[in-house]
Amino acid sequence: MSTGTTAGSAPDRDRRLIATWLVTTLAIFLLLVTLGITMRLAQGAVVPLSTPDFYALMTMHGLGMAGTLFSAGIAMVWFVAARHARPSRAAMWVAYVLFVAGAVALLVATLIGKFAAGWYALYPLPFLKATWPGWATGTTIVALMAMGLAWLVAQLDILRALAVEHGIGRMFAWDRFRSGAGEPAPAGVLIASICAVAGVLGTIVGAATLMTYLFKWLAPATEFDALLLKNGMFMFGHTIVNVAMYCGICAIYELMPRFTGRAWKVTRTVAVAWNATLFFILFAYFHHLYMDFVQPVALQVFGQIASYGSAVPATAVTVFGLGAQIHRSGLRWSFAPAAFTVGILGWVLGGITAVVDSTIAVNLVFHNTLWVPAHFHTYFLVGYVLILLGFLHLFLRSRAERLAGTGLAVMLAGGYTFVLMFFLGGLDSVPRRFASYATIPYPDLAERAAELARWGAVGGSVFLLGALVFCVSLVAGRRRRSGTDA
Ligand code: HEM
Repeated sequence: MSTGTTAGSAPDRDRRLIATWLVTTLAIFLLLVTLGITMRLAQGAVVPLSTPDFYALMTMHGLGMAGTLFSAGIAMVWFVAARHARPSRAAMWVAYVLFVAGAVALLVATLIGKFAAGWYALYPLPFLKATWPGWATGTTIVALMAMGLAWLVAQLDILRALAVEHGIGRMFAWDRFRSGAGEPAPAGVLIASICAVAGVLGTIVGAATLMTYLFKWLAPATEFDALLLKNGMFMFGHTIVNVAMYCGICAIYELMPRFTGRAWKVTRTVAVAWNATLFFILFAYFHHLYMDFVQPVALQVFGQIASYGSAVPATAVTVFGLGAQIHRSGLRWSFAPAAFTVGILGWVLGGITAVVDSTIAVNLVFHNTLWVPAHFHTYFLVGYVLILLGFLHLFLRSRAERLAGTGLAVMLAGGYTFVLMFFLGGLDSVPRRFASYATIPYPDLAERAAELARWGAVGGSVFLLGALVFCVSLVAGRRRRSGTDA
């Protein structure tokens, strides 16, 4: 382990803070999973759902998942930062209150107000009031601004604390390029810094974009450039979901060494890879605009290069580093290292299929098919989420290893069944974001899409079951621990 402290010996108040963040985000996640299963059941024609209701659920599910999992990621990064510096607990509580207020407002806007413009609320769609009232649009904008403010407060403070403790050159591992530099900062500090900088930049662009949305809502006669706002929304949304994943990776770099007994060293190669990731991640979102013919061609080409650049170096050094950690280390496969390892596998599989889709020649065919939700559900559901649960198990010092392991096996079976159905749909060119496949004008394809959706709902439900078993393991594991402590 790179530092003297462990997850168990962090001060009580830090523990209460992070536990509150993580338990809240886990509860919201489970609720959003049930919305996802409902959508898949509706697409499979098993439960009736009106079109406006479907898109309202899809908007809540998409925005909620991205925002909640990113928030959980910030909590993990704060935990890592608190082991190597002194981030402010008060700032993190302020961020928590803002996040919860934003989440509640979003639930009201989508589930009651039926705001249904999708997770990136493409301009000018939110202002057309197609099936929802104007107040639902305004509430969504304010909700997203509250969450954005929460992320800014937390991440800026994490950066401040790391800079004070380590200095800018050391926290970004730039000292690795000087000969005779001393010990590098711990790997967790490097990844935490990369996450926080990229997260802050994405959030600032998001805040500027949302301000124009607010302006439009207050003064409807105003017009803005739709392409500019699409760039802004994707720079914000794409960056934060990528950073969420890296927050999970940050926790692994920090915690895996406690199981293997080997330090996760920041070498010059690791420093190059993560700094390259920081640069490219800011421009990878261009691959969402390949179909926008007015976007300058140079940006499209750069988008493809940046997509590869943001995924390949970080993945390569992480997989190699994980292999070096595990190989002949005598690691005992308890729940947390197992969840971390299968989580990295899910990240890699989701990442490879994302890179495939970000290749312009392929995107011409796969664009807006189910291949797109397939890849990001893979790296989130059977990647990031498993890492998060591994972290939670460790953080809450659960002792119910066998029950947690059973939950993990069930989640893997359900999760992979669920994402496989999206991939098969993508290969068949089933369109994404269709409330009812009955409207597809090719009866064979419509029937196959509905069949895949039904199997997807089965997979999602099995995943949910596994997640509930895991939750029970947390409660049982804590009881067992109290008994042992007593
Ligand atoms: C078992 C768990 C899950 C189920 C059953 C589920 C289900 C779904 C379904 C049916 C859709 C609509 C797909 C389409 O037709 O285009 C969807 C979209 C989406 N899901 Fe999930 N999902 C799950 C987990 C997740 C996770 C972990 C994330 C994390 C980011 C996520 C984020 C999204 C996003 C961003 C969208 C797109 C919404 C949009 O296009 O506006 N989902 N999900």
